[in-house]
Amino acid sequence: MINVAIVGASGYTGLELIKILINHPKFNITYIANSTGNTTVSTLHPSLDGVIDMPVEKVDVGQLAKVADIAFLALPHKTSMSFAKELIALNIKVVDLSADYRLKLETYEEYYCLHEDKENLKHSVYGLPEFYEDQIKNARLVANPGCYPTATLLALLPFVPYLDSKSNIFIDAKSGLSGAGKKLSDMTTFVNVSENMFAYNPFKHRHSPEINEKVLELTDIDANINFVPSLIPVTRGMLVSIFVTLEDICDAKQVLKEFYKDDEFVRVKETPVNIKDTSGTNFCDIFVEQNGNALFISSSIDNLLRGASSQAVVNANLMCGFEANCGISKIAYVP
Ligand SMILES: NC(=O)c1ccc[n+]([C@@H]2O[C@H](COP(=O)([O-])OP(=O)(O)OC[C@H]3O[C@@H](n4cnc5c(N)ncnc54)[C@H](OP(=O)(O)O)[C@@H]3O)[C@@H](O)[C@H]2O)c1
Repeated sequence: MINVAIVGASGYTGLELIKILINHPKFNITYIANSTGNTTVSTLHPSLDGVIDMPVEKVDVGQLAKVADIAFLALPHKTSMSFAKELIALNIKVVDLSADYRLKLETYEEYYCLHEDKENLKHSVYGLPEFYEDQIKNARLVANPGCYPTATLLALLPFVPYLDSKSNIFIDAKSGLSGAGKKLSDMTTFVNVSENMFAYNPFKHRHSPEINEKVLELTDIDANINFVPSLIPVTRGMLVSIFVTLEDICDAKQVLKEFYKDDEFVRVKETPVNIKDTSGTNFCDIFVEQNGNALFISSSIDNLLRGASSQAVVNANLMCGFEANCGISKIAYVP
């Protein structure tokens, strides 16, 4: 068994990590922390009363390093890098769910803040297993992708080489409210989101540069990506719709099937995808429809799982030499 720590356990992705790791056959939770400590898991998450009874500590890196071999950081950006830097120095493997190690230094500092751990940033591996599996297996620090980039990249990347390089790529990405974390804001109040839908930060969302950088890195193509996120009144789930123009006419369904024929956690669907079928799972469902040179590509993930915590555990599995699917749920919350 490998001993694991969860830091940020009072948040939404922290809770999902606890739920996955409780049942994991090869990971043993030995340390759970948040910013204040002095509580227990079942006090923070009454749904886990009678399931797990562990103390929640105020995070202390030295203490963590004594009892765990790998740490999941389910923390806000900037907070994560200060802990990751110390943990790596103490030889602890890290899967970071924040944006701190996902981007090139210049891009990170343009969209977030000054970076405090430039050395480890150089060696971090982007944790999208379908594209970086070999690097993840040898990594000490994995930057778990954002939820929007996960759903977008998995849908878009198979088609980038076929696209008209002069035309725009439009990405319409809709997310459930849990994507914003547990902290309240005016935008996410019940009154504002209930029976409502709206776009926010069109073309300027922080996940835009993440998508751009990874498309360029993986295809060598500087694509014209226009990313527009929206909030929808559901707790979890993400639906991405992408509209593109082909330069080289291809059989899009065949391209998609061939591209993912060996990937267990991507399902190519014959009918348009929906968020319920992936809710509670690590699957990304993808559908494509073609009208001459026009393509509609759509993907669905659970933002808290494939977009965060289950993908983080897949990455940890690979980093520790286990099968990618070890302890990962495939059963959706349906109906
Ligand atoms: N939500 C999603 O769907 C999603 C998807 C992909 C990636 N992410 C990323 O994953 C990370 C966590 O997201 P989330 O939605 O779980 O956030 P969240 O619900 O706001 O939870 C944040 C957690 O971080 C802890 N924390 C904050 N400052 C801390 C500090 N100084 N020391 C120790 N703990 C501290 C909080 O503890 P306290 O309760 O003690 O404040 C809480 O447990 C973020 O970087 C987010 O961008 C989230």
